[in-house]
Amino acid sequence: MACLFSAKIFTIFPEMFPGPLGVSLVGRALQNNIWSLEAVNLRDYANDKHRSVDDTAFGGGPGMVLRPDIIDAALMAHYRTRPNTLIYLSPRGIPLTQEYVKKLANQSHLGLLCGRFEGIDQRVLDAWHIEEVSLGDFILSGGEVAAMALLDAVVRLLPGVLGEQESLNEESFTENLLEYPQYTRPRNWKGHLVPEILLSGHHEKIKAWRKAESEKLTRERRVDLWQRYKAAQQERKD
Ligand SMILES: C[S@@+](CC[C@H](N)C(=O)[O-])C[C@H]1O[C@@H](n2cnc3c(N)ncnc32)[C@H](O)[C@@H]1O
Repeated sequence: MACLFSAKIFTIFPEMFPGPLGVSLVGRALQNNIWSLEAVNLRDYANDKHRSVDDTAFGGGPGMVLRPDIIDAALMAHYRTRPNTLIYLSPRGIPLTQEYVKKLANQSHLGLLCGRFEGIDQRVLDAWHIEEVSLGDFILSGGEVAAMALLDAVVRLLPGVLGEQESLNEESFTENLLEYPQYTRPRNWKGHLVPEILLSGHHEKIKAWRKAESEKLTRERRVDLWQRYKAAQQERKD
């Protein structure tokens, strides 16, 4: 199969890749050339004998900052022009959502920049119009784990990666709902029974039960999603 999607990761720890992206569904897709991955070592673009990529922050404060000239040299070496999607994984970025992941899965290439220390000099982010994307409201020690999470979410949406396209349509966040509870064998586990309806073979009733469970979970756990779900329902009615 022809490669549908390529990713380049700009990092000072290229040895972290493919890591978890090399196993299971996403790893098999990598081996089958459905997507490709290149980890670029930012230190290859350093210009001193210590291969340094960072320096102290102007204005003071603790920690080091990744230098703009080094990042720029790495990007210039890999792109003649700015790629459509160039992302800096950053806690200041827009929060990653399934909707955004779907958009990324329609691209043919993704450039991902991983910060370390206190982050990256602002000027290179501005000069290359780099989007900032966050994994959530917490601080990781580097962008690599965030890049892996983002790529895992994107690659599983590529055609041919998941066996059953069906399962994509019923996942959490589709239509702003969380997924209903799942059950498998044994039917009776330590006295805990599988809900009767799921054993009935009545497809319409099962569908209705799952929808009701999805709604209940979303209402209880995620007020933000629940409000969006209700608003979308109202819009359809109007
Ligand atoms: C220690 S953090 C720097 C945090 C930065 N000083 C701040 O307060 O915003 C080092 C790097 O980890 C990555 N990182 C940390 N938290 C992240 C998050 N929630 N989402 C995505 N990337 C994150 C970024 O690439 C960041 O440059």
